[in-house]
Amino acid sequence: MKVLQRVAVLGLGTMGHGIAQTFAMAGCEVTGFDEISAAGDSLHDRVRQNLRDFVEAELFEADQIDSVLKRLRVCRTEAEAVRHAEFVTEAVREDLAAKQELFERIERDVSDDAILASNSSTFPISQSGARLRRPERAVVTHWFNPPHIVPTVEVVGSPQTNEGTIQATLELLRRSGKLAIRINQELPGFLVNRVQIAVMREVWDLLDRGVASVEDIDAAIQGSMGFRLAALGPLRIHDFGGLDIQTAVFRNLAPQIASGTEVPPKVQAIVDAGHHGFKTGRGFYEYPPEVADQVRSDRDQRYLSLLRLFHARQRS
Ligand SMILES: NC(=O)c1ccc[n+]([C@@H]2O[C@H](COP(=O)([O-])OP(=O)(O)OC[C@H]3O[C@@H](n4cnc5c(N)ncnc54)[C@H](O)[C@@H]3O)[C@@H](O)[C@H]2O)c1
Repeated sequence: MKVLQRVAVLGLGTMGHGIAQTFAMAGCEVTGFDEISAAGDSLHDRVRQNLRDFVEAELFEADQIDSVLKRLRVCRTEAEAVRHAEFVTEAVREDLAAKQELFERIERDVSDDAILASNSSTFPISQSGARLRRPERAVVTHWFNPPHIVPTVEVVGSPQTNEGTIQATLELLRRSGKLAIRINQELPGFLVNRVQIAVMREVWDLLDRGVASVEDIDAAIQGSMGFRLAALGPLRIHDFGGLDIQTAVFRNLAPQIASGTEVPPKVQAIVDAGHHGFKTGRGFYEYPPEVADQVRSDRDQRYLSLLRLFHARQRS
């Protein structure tokens, strides 16, 4: 099997910078490109800060930071970034036409056997790669935010993707410390986002009905479902609950819970008022600019403590 060592990341925003960091931490030579030069110019600073957080969480050695940063090279053109890459992943905005055009363009510049990956949250590779001449080398690798911390990456081919592409992609991600999961069918939303949307629908409906406050909904789920899911997968939890009980609970409650496809009015009103969450300083909670950095760092520290447990578990 091909062992991939040279990686290109196109789009260095929320996802792209963390994806580039992950591959550089695994020893890959990484080239990056973003159409906004500020995103490229700030890449090393953002990754340095992430790595310092890793050091603080005792997940990385401080004396390795510089060598990781040296393996990241920002290019001034897309063609230069992809030219020598063996694995190219896009992490540009979620716009089907933009992704299709990008893949069509870069296919002229990449080597014939380079693997082309998309980090789309929704578009299967048969759509985003619809204009590729060689669709057998294309695959979705769906990471979760923050990508340098959250372990799972879903790997989803199209019916045209060949087995070598899937296997080399799984090997690269696993060598990079990721929990790479092969998904067998190209369903919209792949696997995890379908489950997340099911939970989101019910949580937003409960909030809309005023069943509990924002804080209490978060606390209740964190201390129950979240607690158990961080330790066991959902199907194993069901086994421990007893499938006779679980199937009865399902029959009783499934018809009672939300099944609509519209965003509930109270949530839509928050969005319509321009409150888009952390990035605008307000969503369900408030994030004043003077504490924004601290809030983000607290979030990462929480995730990193879970990652420490996750790594310890993988080793045992
Ligand atoms: N943010 C998330 O939680 C998340 C999770 C999983 C997957 N994704 C997916 O990852 C992709 C990127 O999302 P994000 O949150 O990082 O977005 P983002 O807006 O933070 O970053 C996108 C970056 O791509 C750059 N860009 C846009 N078009 C480009 C092009 N043609 N060439 C080069 N650079 C270009 C932008 O300048 C920007 O810096 C999307 O497809 C998104 O659906 C996002």
